[in-house]
Amino acid sequence: MKTRLFTPGPTPVPEPVMLRMAQPIIHHRTDEFRAVIRRVSDNLSYLFCTAQPVLTLTSSGTGAMEAAIVNTMSAGEELLFVNGGKFGERWGEIARAYGLTTHELAVPWGTAATPQQILEMVAQHPAVRAVCLTHSETSTGVFTDVQAIARALRQQGYEGLVMVDGITAVGAHEMRFDDWGLDVVVTGSQKGLMIPPGLAFIALSQRAWEFNKTSTLPKFYFNLAEARASLEADDTPWTPAITLMLGLDEALQMIRHEGVENVWARHARLAAALRAGALTLGLQLFASPSSNAVTSITLPENGSTFMKLLKEKYRVTVAAGQESLKGKIFRVSHLGYYDEADMLSILFAIESALTDVGHQHSEGGGLAAAQKVFNQPHTAPGEPT
Ligand SMILES: Cc1ncc(COP(=O)(O)O)c(C=O)c1O
Repeated sequence: MKTRLFTPGPTPVPEPVMLRMAQPIIHHRTDEFRAVIRRVSDNLSYLFCTAQPVLTLTSSGTGAMEAAIVNTMSAGEELLFVNGGKFGERWGEIARAYGLTTHELAVPWGTAATPQQILEMVAQHPAVRAVCLTHSETSTGVFTDVQAIARALRQQGYEGLVMVDGITAVGAHEMRFDDWGLDVVVTGSQKGLMIPPGLAFIALSQRAWEFNKTSTLPKFYFNLAEARASLEADDTPWTPAITLMLGLDEALQMIRHEGVENVWARHARLAAALRAGALTLGLQLFASPSSNAVTSITLPENGSTFMKLLKEKYRVTVAAGQESLKGKIFRVSHLGYYDEADMLSILFAIESALTDVGHQHSEGGGLAAAQKVFNQPHTAPGEPT
C-alpha cells in the first residue's frame, strides 16, 4: 500500500533526484565531477541569495552548526543563543562543548524571540561575539524574523556575528544572505533541498571570514578555509558523498527552474492551506508565528490513538512532539517536494482519524478550507499577470 511521508526531515525525494542517484558511481577527481561541483556551487549561491561561496560538507545539519562555531570563534569568547526549542538549544550545547561562555535567551517554546529581546541581551552582555538564531525552529514550528533581528543589531552598532540555523528555513522562507547582512547560514540536505540526509551547507559573510582568520577553536575535518580553497579549484578536501552530490545537482536544478521566489511562495501557500484546514477542523495551532516548513498542531483528544491511526490506517507519517512537547503536539511538514494535492491528502488523513477518535467536526470542512486557500488568485513572482 502507498505510504506518505510528512516529516520535516527527511522529506520526500523527487523522482528525477532518485533516478540521478541510481546512476553508476563516478570518480570525484574528474572533469565530469568538477562540472557537477561548479554547477552545484553556483546554484547554492543562487538559493542563498549570496555572492559568497556556499560550502558543502559531508555531515548532517548539526555538523554545519559545529563548523560555524569552530571556524569563527576563539577560546574564551562569549556567544548568545535563543532557547525556544530543541534546535535553538543546540547552538548553546555546541558552544559549551568548545568551552565558550554562553548566554541564553529563553523564550516559551511555541513563541519567537523579538529584536527588542535580543538587543536587551546584547546590551547586558556587550562581550557577545555571536548571536545564534534558528530561522525555523522545527521542534515547535516557530518562525523567527532573523532579517529584523539582524537589522536591529546593526542599527545598534553590534559588530559581532549573526549566525542562523536555516536548516528547515532555506527553501521554505525568503532568506537573502547578502542583503540581510547575515554572517553565517547553515542548512541540511534532507530538508528543503529534497535529497536524503548526509550533506550540510554553510555560507560565511566577509565579516565571518575575517573572524575565521583569527579563530582559535580546534578544527580539522570541518576546516572551512580549506574547503573554500578546494572549492575555488572545483574540488573538495576529502572524498565527497558523490551520489548525494549528483542528487543535489538535480534537486538544485529543479529549484532553479521553479525559481527560488516561487519556491518560497509555494511553501507559504501550502502552509496557509494546511493551517486553515486544521483550524476549521477545530484543532489548535501550537506555534506563533508559524514556520512555512512545518505546522505544529495540538494533539486532539485520544492523541495516541489518533497518531496510531494516522500511521497504521491512513499510512501517513507525521512527526511527534519532542522533549517537553511529547504527547502534546504533532508536526506536519510542507517542506520541500510537496504540492496542493499533498496537503489535501494529509488533511484527508487527519480528518478521517479525527472522525475515528470521535472528534466533532463538519465532514470535509478541513479539505474545503484548504481548497479555498488554493483557489484564491495568486500570482507567483515572475509569472505573467
Ligand atoms: C532547525 C534544525 N536545526 C538543526 C537540526 C539538526 O540537523 P541534523 O539532524 O541534520 O543534524 C534540525 C534537524 O531536524 C533542524 O530541524
